[in-house]
Amino acid sequence: MAKWVHVASMEELKQHNPLLVVVNNEDIALYRAKNQLYATDDLCSHAEASLSEGDLKGYVIHCPRHGGQFDVRTGEARHFPATSPIRTYPVKTEGNEIFIEIEQD
Ligand code: FES
Repeated sequence: MAKWVHVASMEELKQHNPLLVVVNNEDIALYRAKNQLYATDDLCSHAEASLSEGDLKGYVIHCPRHGGQFDVRTGEARHFPATSPIRTYPVKTEGNEIFIEIEQD
């Protein structure tokens, strides 16, 4: 069953500055790109790296380890060596608060 979970407030999420949040022991990266909010798995699909430590340019997060790139809107891998997509999550706001929709048992 899917459930909306509060993860952060807008003050914590700066434009072009990803934020790591933990939901149900899963690391999720939050992004504010062109004033829209997005969420993906924090773990790069190529190897062990935290995408929230990477650079967000437009809608593309650049992995800090080997430079793989992903579109944060779709999770699609955009640049080698990343070839597999990452999972994305629906995001909504209520006032100043940010919520992610995740599957729960
Ligand atoms: S760990 Fe991200 S591109 Fe290699």
